Amino acid sequence: VRTLRIGLCGLGTVGQGVWKHLTADRPELEARLGVKLELARGAVRNPKKRRSVRIPASKLTTDALAIARDPSIDIVCELVGGTDLAREITLEALRRGKVVVSANKALICAHGAEIFATAREHGGRFLFEASVAGGIPIIKALREGLVANRFPLIYGILNGTCNYILTQMEERDAPYTQVLGDAKRLGYAEADESLDVEGWDAAHKASVLAYLAHGVWVRPEQMIVEGIARITPADFKNANALGFGIKLLAVIWRDFETNELSVRVHPTLLPESHVVAKVNGVFNAISVQGDVVGTTLYIGRGAGQDATASAVISDIVDAVALLRRQKGEMIDGDFIETTARRQAPP
Ligand code: HSE
Repeated sequence: VRTLRIGLCGLGTVGQGVWKHLTADRPELEARLGVKLELARGAVRNPKKRRSVRIPASKLTTDALAIARDPSIDIVCELVGGTDLAREITLEALRRGKVVVSANKALICAHGAEIFATAREHGGRFLFEASVAGGIPIIKALREGLVANRFPLIYGILNGTCNYILTQMEERDAPYTQVLGDAKRLGYAEADESLDVEGWDAAHKASVLAYLAHGVWVRPEQMIVEGIARITPADFKNANALGFGIKLLAVIWRDFETNELSVRVHPTLLPESHVVAKVNGVFNAISVQGDVVGTTLYIGRGAGQDATASAVISDIVDAVALLRRQKGEMIDGDFIETTARRQAPP
Protein backbone atom coordinates (compact mmCIF):
# COMPACT_ATOMS: atom_id res chain seq x y z
CA VAL A 1 0.00 0.00 0.00
CA ARG A 2 1.32 3.38 -1.00
CA THR A 3 1.85 6.16 1.55
CA LEU A 4 0.85 9.68 0.50
CA ARG A 5 2.56 12.42 2.48
CA ILE A 6 0.75 15.62 3.39
CA GLY A 7 2.42 18.89 4.37
CA LEU A 8 0.47 21.61 6.16
CA CYS A 9 1.80 25.12 5.60
CA GLY A 10 0.18 27.08 8.41
CA LEU A 11 -1.13 25.63 11.66
CA GLY A 12 -3.51 28.36 12.76
CA THR A 13 -7.22 27.83 13.37
CA VAL A 14 -7.80 25.93 10.13
CA GLY A 15 -4.50 24.02 10.08
CA GLN A 16 -5.01 22.72 13.60
CA GLY A 17 -8.55 21.68 12.66
CA VAL A 18 -7.25 19.72 9.67
CA TRP A 19 -4.57 18.08 11.82
CA LYS A 20 -7.14 17.15 14.49
CA HIS A 21 -9.79 15.69 12.18
CA LEU A 22 -7.39 14.01 9.79
CA THR A 23 -5.69 12.29 12.72
CA ALA A 24 -9.04 11.12 14.11
CA ASP A 25 -10.52 10.02 10.76
CA ARG A 26 -7.34 8.59 9.24
CA PRO A 27 -7.99 4.85 9.81
CA GLU A 28 -11.39 5.01 8.13
CA LEU A 29 -10.17 7.24 5.29
CA GLU A 30 -7.20 4.96 4.67
CA ALA A 31 -9.45 1.90 4.58
CA ARG A 32 -11.75 3.57 2.09
CA LEU A 33 -9.06 5.11 -0.10
CA GLY A 34 -6.60 2.22 -0.17
CA VAL A 35 -3.56 4.33 0.74
CA LYS A 36 -1.71 5.29 3.91
CA LEU A 37 -1.95 8.99 4.73
CA GLU A 38 0.88 10.58 6.65
CA LEU A 39 0.71 14.04 8.18
CA ALA A 40 4.38 14.43 7.44
CA ARG A 41 5.28 18.05 8.13
CA GLY A 42 3.82 21.30 9.39
CA ALA A 43 5.15 24.82 8.86
CA VAL A 44 4.61 27.44 11.56
CA ARG A 45 5.99 30.85 12.42
CA ASN A 46 6.61 29.91 16.05
CA PRO A 47 7.22 26.21 16.84
CA LYS A 48 7.07 26.89 20.62
CA LYS A 49 3.53 28.29 20.55
CA ARG A 50 0.87 26.27 22.41
CA ARG A 51 -1.52 24.55 20.04
CA SER A 52 -4.75 22.63 20.54
CA VAL A 53 -3.26 19.57 18.80
CA ARG A 54 -0.10 17.69 19.79
CA ILE A 55 2.38 17.77 16.92
CA PRO A 56 5.84 16.23 17.36
CA ALA A 57 8.51 18.95 17.26
CA SER A 58 10.43 16.88 14.70
CA LYS A 59 7.62 17.45 12.19
CA LEU A 60 7.59 21.23 12.54
CA THR A 61 9.57 23.68 10.47
CA THR A 62 9.51 27.45 10.11
CA ASP A 63 10.27 27.14 6.40
CA ALA A 64 6.96 26.71 4.57
CA LEU A 65 8.65 26.85 1.16
CA ALA A 66 10.77 23.83 2.13
CA ILE A 67 7.52 21.84 2.41
CA ALA A 68 6.44 23.03 -1.05
CA ARG A 69 9.81 21.93 -2.44
CA ASP A 70 10.13 18.65 -0.53
CA PRO A 71 10.05 15.86 -3.14
CA SER A 72 8.63 13.40 -0.59
CA ILE A 73 5.49 15.53 -0.03
CA ASP A 74 2.60 14.73 -2.37
CA ILE A 75 -0.12 17.08 -1.09
CA VAL A 76 0.61 20.61 0.13
CA CYS A 77 -2.09 22.40 2.14
CA GLU A 78 -1.59 26.15 1.89
CA LEU A 79 -3.20 27.54 5.03
CA VAL A 80 -0.90 30.46 5.83
CA GLY A 81 -3.30 33.21 4.71
CA GLY A 82 -2.28 36.46 3.05
CA THR A 83 -1.21 36.54 -0.57
CA ASP A 84 2.61 36.82 -0.73
CA LEU A 85 4.05 33.73 0.95
CA ALA A 86 0.86 31.85 0.06
CA ARG A 87 1.45 32.57 -3.63
CA GLU A 88 5.09 31.44 -3.45
CA ILE A 89 4.18 28.19 -1.67
CA THR A 90 1.40 27.46 -4.15
CA LEU A 91 3.45 28.15 -7.28
CA GLU A 92 6.51 26.24 -5.96
CA ALA A 93 4.41 23.17 -5.23
CA LEU A 94 2.46 23.32 -8.53
CA ARG A 95 5.69 23.65 -10.53
CA ARG A 96 6.70 20.34 -8.98
CA GLY A 97 3.45 18.72 -10.10
CA LYS A 98 2.04 18.45 -6.57
CA VAL A 99 -1.56 18.85 -5.51
CA VAL A 100 -2.14 22.08 -3.59
CA VAL A 101 -5.16 22.40 -1.31
CA SER A 102 -6.00 25.97 -0.30
CA ALA A 103 -8.57 27.79 1.82
CA ASN A 104 -7.28 31.16 0.66
CA LYS A 105 -9.90 33.20 -1.20
CA ALA A 106 -7.78 36.37 -1.19
CA LEU A 107 -4.99 34.44 -2.90
CA ILE A 108 -7.29 32.99 -5.57
CA CYS A 109 -8.86 36.37 -6.19
CA ALA A 110 -5.46 38.10 -6.60
CA HIS A 111 -3.49 35.35 -8.36
CA GLY A 112 -6.03 32.78 -9.57
CA ALA A 113 -5.20 33.21 -13.26
CA GLU A 114 -1.48 32.66 -12.63
CA ILE A 115 -2.12 29.73 -10.29
CA PHE A 116 -4.41 27.88 -12.70
CA ALA A 117 -2.02 28.52 -15.61
CA THR A 118 0.93 27.20 -13.57
CA ALA A 119 -1.03 24.10 -12.58
CA ARG A 120 -1.95 23.44 -16.23
CA GLU A 121 1.62 23.94 -17.42
CA HIS A 122 3.27 21.66 -14.88
CA GLY A 123 0.62 19.02 -14.27
CA GLY A 124 -0.04 20.18 -10.71
CA ARG A 125 -3.56 20.52 -9.34
CA PHE A 126 -5.10 23.29 -7.27
CA LEU A 127 -8.13 22.50 -5.09
CA PHE A 128 -9.97 25.17 -3.10
CA GLU A 129 -13.27 23.94 -1.68
CA ALA A 130 -12.52 25.59 1.69
CA SER A 131 -12.06 29.03 0.16
CA VAL A 132 -15.76 29.88 -0.08
CA ALA A 133 -18.51 29.38 2.51
CA GLY A 134 -16.56 27.20 4.95
CA GLY A 135 -18.11 23.76 5.17
CA ILE A 136 -20.69 24.21 2.37
CA PRO A 137 -19.46 22.33 -0.72
CA ILE A 138 -20.36 25.20 -3.05
CA ILE A 139 -17.30 24.82 -5.30
CA LYS A 140 -18.19 21.20 -6.00
CA ALA A 141 -21.83 22.19 -6.46
CA LEU A 142 -21.00 24.76 -9.15
CA ARG A 143 -18.29 22.73 -10.87
CA GLU A 144 -19.81 19.27 -10.68
CA GLY A 145 -23.39 19.00 -9.46
CA LEU A 146 -24.68 21.95 -11.48
CA VAL A 147 -22.38 21.60 -14.50
CA ALA A 148 -25.35 21.45 -16.88
CA ASN A 149 -26.42 24.98 -15.96
CA ARG A 150 -25.80 28.62 -16.74
CA PHE A 151 -26.26 30.90 -13.74
CA PRO A 152 -28.34 34.06 -14.12
CA LEU A 153 -28.24 34.73 -10.37
CA ILE A 154 -26.14 33.62 -7.41
CA TYR A 155 -26.53 35.48 -4.13
CA GLY A 156 -26.14 34.95 -0.45
CA ILE A 157 -24.34 35.36 2.81
CA LEU A 158 -20.64 34.60 2.29
CA ASN A 159 -19.06 36.00 5.45
CA GLY A 160 -19.70 34.20 8.73
CA THR A 161 -18.14 36.90 10.88
CA CYS A 162 -20.45 39.62 9.54
CA ASN A 163 -23.52 37.41 9.82
CA TYR A 164 -22.57 36.55 13.40
CA ILE A 165 -22.13 40.24 14.24
CA LEU A 166 -25.39 41.30 12.55
CA THR A 167 -27.30 38.51 14.31
CA GLN A 168 -25.93 39.42 17.75
CA MET A 169 -26.66 43.11 17.18
CA GLU A 170 -30.21 42.39 16.07
CA GLU A 171 -31.12 39.74 18.64
CA ARG A 172 -29.26 40.98 21.70
CA ASP A 173 -28.69 44.62 20.92
CA ALA A 174 -25.03 43.82 21.61
CA PRO A 175 -22.42 46.50 20.93
CA TYR A 176 -20.53 46.11 17.67
CA THR A 177 -16.97 46.07 19.07
CA GLN A 178 -17.80 43.49 21.73
CA VAL A 179 -19.38 41.13 19.19
CA LEU A 180 -16.46 41.56 16.81
CA GLY A 181 -14.15 40.55 19.70
CA ASP A 182 -16.26 37.40 20.22
CA ALA A 183 -16.06 36.55 16.50
CA LYS A 184 -12.28 36.81 16.68
CA ARG A 185 -12.07 34.62 19.79
CA LEU A 186 -14.31 32.00 18.14
CA GLY A 187 -11.91 31.77 15.20
CA TYR A 188 -14.35 33.16 12.63
CA ALA A 189 -12.64 36.44 11.71
CA GLU A 190 -9.68 36.96 9.39
CA ALA A 191 -6.31 37.88 10.95
CA ASP A 192 -7.07 41.37 9.63
CA GLU A 193 -10.72 41.66 10.60
CA SER A 194 -11.26 44.73 8.43
CA LEU A 195 -11.37 42.25 5.51
CA ASP A 196 -14.52 40.82 7.09
CA VAL A 197 -16.36 43.91 8.28
CA GLU A 198 -15.51 46.11 5.28
CA GLY A 199 -16.89 43.45 2.91
CA TRP A 200 -13.62 42.49 1.18
CA ASP A 201 -13.66 38.86 2.29
CA ALA A 202 -17.15 38.41 0.85
CA ALA A 203 -15.95 40.19 -2.31
CA HIS A 204 -13.01 37.75 -2.64
CA LYS A 205 -15.44 34.84 -2.34
CA ALA A 206 -17.88 36.43 -4.82
CA SER A 207 -14.97 36.81 -7.23
CA VAL A 208 -14.15 33.08 -6.95
CA LEU A 209 -17.80 32.10 -7.48
CA ALA A 210 -18.15 34.51 -10.41
CA TYR A 211 -15.08 32.94 -12.03
CA LEU A 212 -16.50 29.45 -11.62
CA ALA A 213 -19.93 30.48 -12.87
CA HIS A 214 -18.92 32.83 -15.69
CA GLY A 215 -15.24 32.26 -16.47
CA VAL A 216 -14.09 35.83 -15.88
CA TRP A 217 -12.12 37.38 -13.06
CA VAL A 218 -13.95 40.31 -11.51
CA ARG A 219 -11.66 42.10 -9.06
CA PRO A 220 -13.04 43.50 -5.79
CA GLU A 221 -11.85 46.95 -6.93
CA GLN A 222 -14.26 46.63 -9.87
CA MET A 223 -17.20 45.80 -7.60
CA ILE A 224 -19.44 47.87 -5.39
CA VAL A 225 -18.26 46.72 -1.94
CA GLU A 226 -19.78 47.99 1.29
CA GLY A 227 -19.38 46.22 4.63
CA ILE A 228 -21.26 46.33 7.91
CA ALA A 229 -19.06 48.69 9.92
CA ARG A 230 -21.53 51.58 9.66
CA ILE A 231 -24.68 49.65 10.55
CA THR A 232 -26.21 50.81 13.84
CA PRO A 233 -28.93 49.49 16.18
CA ALA A 234 -31.21 52.22 14.73
CA ASP A 235 -30.91 50.60 11.29
CA PHE A 236 -32.22 47.33 12.72
CA LYS A 237 -35.10 49.10 14.48
CA ASN A 238 -36.14 50.84 11.26
CA ALA A 239 -35.77 47.72 9.12
CA ASN A 240 -37.67 45.53 11.61
CA ALA A 241 -40.50 48.07 11.86
CA LEU A 242 -41.01 47.65 8.11
CA GLY A 243 -40.84 43.83 8.31
CA PHE A 244 -37.28 43.49 7.02
CA GLY A 245 -33.98 42.13 8.31
CA ILE A 246 -30.48 43.26 7.31
CA LYS A 247 -27.97 40.83 5.75
CA LEU A 248 -24.62 41.39 4.11
CA LEU A 249 -25.19 39.85 0.69
CA ALA A 250 -22.90 39.08 -2.19
CA VAL A 251 -24.77 39.20 -5.51
CA ILE A 252 -23.55 37.79 -8.84
CA TRP A 253 -26.06 38.66 -11.52
CA ARG A 254 -25.71 37.96 -15.24
CA ASP A 255 -28.00 38.97 -18.06
CA PHE A 256 -27.40 36.45 -20.83
CA GLU A 257 -29.30 38.64 -23.34
CA THR A 258 -27.10 41.72 -22.94
CA ASN A 259 -24.12 39.83 -21.47
CA GLU A 260 -23.99 42.24 -18.56
CA LEU A 261 -22.35 40.85 -15.40
CA SER A 262 -22.69 42.54 -12.03
CA VAL A 263 -20.84 41.39 -8.89
CA ARG A 264 -21.34 43.32 -5.67
CA VAL A 265 -21.36 43.10 -1.88
CA HIS A 266 -23.49 45.27 0.38
CA PRO A 267 -25.91 45.25 3.31
CA THR A 268 -29.35 44.39 1.99
CA LEU A 269 -32.88 44.59 3.34
CA LEU A 270 -34.57 41.19 3.09
CA PRO A 271 -38.21 40.50 4.03
CA GLU A 272 -38.20 38.72 7.41
CA SER A 273 -40.07 35.81 5.79
CA HIS A 274 -37.27 35.24 3.25
CA VAL A 275 -35.39 32.02 3.94
CA VAL A 276 -31.99 33.76 3.74
CA ALA A 277 -33.15 36.37 6.28
CA LYS A 278 -33.61 33.52 8.77
CA VAL A 279 -30.01 32.29 8.43
CA ASN A 280 -28.30 33.48 11.58
CA GLY A 281 -24.98 33.40 13.41
CA VAL A 282 -21.88 32.08 11.69
CA PHE A 283 -23.97 30.33 9.04
CA ASN A 284 -23.69 31.17 5.35
CA ALA A 285 -26.44 30.75 2.76
CA ILE A 286 -26.10 30.67 -1.02
CA SER A 287 -28.97 30.68 -3.45
CA VAL A 288 -27.95 29.49 -6.91
CA GLN A 289 -30.32 29.92 -9.80
CA GLY A 290 -29.49 27.58 -12.67
CA ASP A 291 -31.22 27.80 -16.04
CA VAL A 292 -31.78 24.04 -16.13
CA VAL A 293 -32.24 23.05 -12.48
CA GLY A 294 -34.03 26.16 -11.17
CA THR A 295 -33.09 27.48 -7.73
CA THR A 296 -30.99 25.49 -5.27
CA LEU A 297 -30.12 26.70 -1.78
CA TYR A 298 -27.13 25.84 0.42
CA ILE A 299 -26.94 26.62 4.13
CA GLY A 300 -24.22 25.70 6.60
CA ARG A 301 -21.41 26.92 8.81
CA GLY A 302 -19.43 29.44 6.82
CA ALA A 303 -16.41 29.88 9.08
CA GLY A 304 -14.60 28.33 12.01
CA GLN A 305 -12.15 25.54 12.57
CA ASP A 306 -14.28 22.43 12.08
CA ALA A 307 -16.40 23.59 9.12
CA THR A 308 -13.33 24.75 7.21
CA ALA A 309 -11.37 21.60 8.09
CA SER A 310 -14.25 19.55 6.68
CA ALA A 311 -13.82 21.27 3.31
CA VAL A 312 -10.00 20.98 3.33
CA ILE A 313 -10.22 17.26 4.07
CA SER A 314 -12.67 16.77 1.19
CA ASP A 315 -10.03 18.28 -1.09
CA ILE A 316 -7.33 16.05 0.41
CA VAL A 317 -9.50 13.04 -0.43
CA ASP A 318 -9.91 14.35 -4.00
CA ALA A 319 -6.13 14.82 -4.13
CA VAL A 320 -5.61 11.18 -3.18
CA ALA A 321 -7.86 10.11 -6.04
CA LEU A 322 -6.09 12.41 -8.50
CA LEU A 323 -2.67 11.08 -7.50
CA ARG A 324 -3.79 7.48 -7.70
CA ARG A 325 -5.39 8.02 -11.11
CA GLN A 326 -2.18 9.69 -12.33
CA LYS A 327 -0.32 6.51 -11.41
CA GLY A 328 -2.98 4.36 -13.06
CA GLU A 329 -3.79 2.81 -9.69
CA MET A 330 -7.43 3.69 -9.84
CA ILE A 331 -10.19 4.51 -12.28
CA ASP A 332 -13.10 6.86 -11.64
CA GLY A 333 -15.61 4.12 -10.80
CA ASP A 334 -13.25 2.67 -8.18
CA PHE A 335 -13.01 6.02 -6.47
CA ILE A 336 -16.74 6.58 -6.28
CA GLU A 337 -17.17 3.08 -4.93
CA THR A 338 -14.42 3.34 -2.31
CA THR A 339 -15.36 6.81 -1.04
CA ALA A 340 -18.98 5.72 -0.75
CA ARG A 341 -18.00 2.69 1.35
CA ARG A 342 -18.51 3.33 5.04
CA GLN A 343 -17.54 1.00 7.83
CA ALA A 344 -20.57 -1.16 8.56
CA PRO A 345 -21.78 -1.30 12.17
CA PRO A 346 -20.40 -4.36 14.02
N1 HSE B 1 -13.46 35.29 8.04
C1 HSE B 1 -14.20 34.39 7.21
C2 HSE B 1 -15.67 34.51 7.55
C3 HSE B 1 -13.68 33.01 7.40
O1 HSE B 1 -15.98 35.02 8.61
O2 HSE B 1 -16.50 34.10 6.75
C4 HSE B 1 -14.23 31.99 6.45
O3 HSE B 1 -13.83 32.23 5.14
